[in-house]
Amino acid sequence: MSYQELVKQYISIYGGTDTDIRIFEAPGRINLIGEHIDYNGGHVFPVGLEYTNIVVARPNGKNEINLAASDLPDRVCAKIDQLTDYKHLHWGSYQLGVAYELQQAGFAIVGCDLYYHGTVPFGAGLSSSASIEVATATALLSLGGEEKLDFKQIAVLCQRAENQYVGMNCGIMDQFISALAKKDHAMILDCATLDYQYVPLDLGRYTIVITNTNAPHKLTETQYNQRRSECEQALAIINQNGGSYKYLCEMDEAALKTYQDQFSDEMLYRRARHCVTEEARTKKAVEVLRSGDIEAFGQLLKEANVSIRDDYEATGPELDAAYDVAVSLPGVAGSRMTGGGFGGCNISIVEKDMAGAFEAQMAVQYERRTGIKPSFYRSAAGEGAREVKDWR
Ligand code: GLA
Repeated sequence: MSYQELVKQYISIYGGTDTDIRIFEAPGRINLIGEHIDYNGGHVFPVGLEYTNIVVARPNGKNEINLAASDLPDRVCAKIDQLTDYKHLHWGSYQLGVAYELQQAGFAIVGCDLYYHGTVPFGAGLSSSASIEVATATALLSLGGEEKLDFKQIAVLCQRAENQYVGMNCGIMDQFISALAKKDHAMILDCATLDYQYVPLDLGRYTIVITNTNAPHKLTETQYNQRRSECEQALAIINQNGGSYKYLCEMDEAALKTYQDQFSDEMLYRRARHCVTEEARTKKAVEVLRSGDIEAFGQLLKEANVSIRDDYEATGPELDAAYDVAVSLPGVAGSRMTGGGFGGCNISIVEKDMAGAFEAQMAVQYERRTGIKPSFYRSAAGEGAREVKDWR
């Protein structure tokens, strides 16, 4: 849908003219490698997508924030001086959580009418919620008169909204890349320090095919929070036995091994092993991508998938089926699940001229194994959160 079309819809809901209307957007993401280690002080290697969440915005001169969306019947009217009251909305708690955290951080929130439209597939593990949060923060701060936005701070406040307001214990990766993605680049982010660098996403004769498993949502949030707590338990065992680490990812595999006998629960050891091996793979992946060795890069992605499947157990039958099909197809350098897991998307590094055949084969074979039709997306590396200036 064009921006003008969205503005028309906006006016049909909220009335008035387009004079004071401003438009903001923020992208979804894939993560190339470095999964489930952002909250373990590790490095992650995400890429912003061209798929975004858009918010059309205008101040309303009242003490309230109104929310509406292009694809939902829900309408929300929230009082700015009672922002703690909206935690359990069917839709709208992400936006109001962000407004609340910005307010807590000392920013003035102005009353406004907001209208949402997204092209990030919802619930597919491509960070549609983070992109809504970051687009909302960008809009609210801009309407509030902030001229130079601090996107690092935006990412941190949006993560806080999700952790504390919504109750999803996510790490920083999704909000950070949505806020700070760079066209044609991936980002290597050190989640312990929030230092980051951009790496050109040049895959030579390969491209990325995103396969959405369309797996039914099953307790994703609960399982995610459970993995996070298992990592905390593993770290506690290490530190009770002579270690003094802030994060699991400070350790290499050899250091972790010295604690293996202290783990009475072998499952917790495997969780920790995923973290330390994933950290090593991620650093290596940046090196080989920089040197243009896409085959080596793809190999690391496959190893990462095996680790998150077997040691971390964050995949599930649908993601496993997609992976098995992908690595059996011609022209595939590498493949893995991406994002939080337990369903969601697979990314595969496929020779450009084989990508059509890959999708055709994946569609047939994946459906044969799971009974579910997959969806496919292709996207270059897109820009981070921004105001859309040229929509008129
Ligand atoms: C979700 C979370 C992120 C990260 C990934 C797994 O997307 O929001 O913080 O933990 O899962 O890497």
